[in-house]
Amino acid sequence: MDALQPVTFAVTGASGARYAVRLLQALNEAAVPVRLIVSRTGWRLLHEETDISTEAELRSQSGDWKHVTLYSDDDRGATPASGSAPSHGMVICPCSMGTLASIAQGTTRSLIERAADVVLKERRRLVLVPRETPYSIIHLENMLRLSRAGAVVLPASPGFYHRPEGIDELIDFVVGRVLSHLDVPHGLGPRWQSGEVVGDGV
Ligand SMILES: Cc1cc2nc3c(=O)[nH]c(=O)nc-3n(C[C@H](O)[C@H](O)[C@H](O)COP(=O)(O)O)c2cc1C
Repeated sequence: MDALQPVTFAVTGASGARYAVRLLQALNEAAVPVRLIVSRTGWRLLHEETDISTEAELRSQSGDWKHVTLYSDDDRGATPASGSAPSHGMVICPCSMGTLASIAQGTTRSLIERAADVVLKERRRLVLVPRETPYSIIHLENMLRLSRAGAVVLPASPGFYHRPEGIDELIDFVVGRVLSHLDVPHGLGPRWQSGEVVGDGV
């Protein structure tokens, strides 16, 4: 990763808040500077799925925040909204179909939407981790549109070929794939060697 440029990390209101907490832990362990934005419904899902309701509670469960800056999703003038601010890219995990649709249309009505719009226009990496089932044609068309615009659509779809023993391993599978797409070194998820899975990598 080029000189630990900041990664913008948005958490939106799709199911899968545990992916978000684990990803923040992993980015903190790797000392990656993080510009964190949590949508209103993202906070609701954090509460419903992990009992985290406040910044303090999120801090207490996601490691050392030395390199984390939390922005309000209402502040469309904050650093992640600027194309001239150095950035390695952005991940939205989990990514709601609502936010995904807004980014596909370029509406930029929140800091998360604006930051993603900027990442696409600056040709930086944008990793989207949607969670919905089944997908409607509208969802699929929006994902195709974003993929064509350069985003990586990385659904929260863990594999089972490494025989996970619990939810933590399933979460790490997805989080490991996200970290790989952000060029962040990690030891999460199954490892491959000559086409064979070796160990659980966790
Ligand atoms: C409990 C709950 C679970 C939800 N799960 C999902 C989901 O898995 N995927 C999704 O796309 N939207 C889901 N939604 C709907 C989004 O939260 C809703 O579209 C919201 O407007 C998204 O706003 P945001 O993208 O700004 O966070 C859920 C909503 C609630 C309240």
